[in-house]
Amino acid sequence: MSGSGFIHRFVPGSGPSVLVLLHGTGGDEHSLLPLGAALAPGAPMLSPRGQVLEGPHARFFRRIAEGVFDQDDLRRRTEDLASFLQGAIAQHELQGKRLLAVGFSNGANIAASLLLRRPGLIHEAVLFRAMLPFEPETLPVLQGTRVWLGAGRRDPIVPHASIERLAAVLREAGAAVRMDWRDSGHQLEADEVADARRWFEAAAQQGSASGTVLDSAR
Ligand code: MLT
Repeated sequence: MSGSGFIHRFVPGSGPSVLVLLHGTGGDEHSLLPLGAALAPGAPMLSPRGQVLEGPHARFFRRIAEGVFDQDDLRRRTEDLASFLQGAIAQHELQGKRLLAVGFSNGANIAASLLLRRPGLIHEAVLFRAMLPFEPETLPVLQGTRVWLGAGRRDPIVPHASIERLAAVLREAGAAVRMDWRDSGHQLEADEVADARRWFEAAAQQGSASGTVLDSAR
């Protein structure tokens, strides 16, 4: 399927949330479907493919070097992704559902950019191996937004300071942030997916109420 220029998969489902699956470099619209199904079984899933090619590898925005992002491109691609999501919500009659962004690596980074640039679009986010994509000039208002940040202590790609700064910025903006450090590298571990699922189920039960309980664990 293609919409607003994004090749994507849409998997129909039920429940209060729709998952937005954002793959890492070299992935595609199929890559995170099993992860989405494990996190929120039966939920509808929207899974776009990043539009930037780095060699043969799809990404969501350009980078100049590892961890050095083309900020103009990131800004534009974040807006394009937001427009795609708004169009897809209408097209698939998903109005009124909460958007749960599930991102890995490059997909987690554009999800973080969406949170910072388009507050209110994403309600919950489960971000594995994210970093701060840019330092915002003004803080967005993210009260009522809940974010799980899954980080690996031995991750060779994501500097500890960058993920800690992302957590701090999101908290300063009012989001409830659960920072989950593991003794792992850049790849996902099965038990962290199970933990993220428990966190998301608790977050979903809280609906749009304040997320202070979920904010406490580090
Ligand atoms: C990025 O470029 O978004 C991050 O460095 C993660 C990656 O894709 O390797």
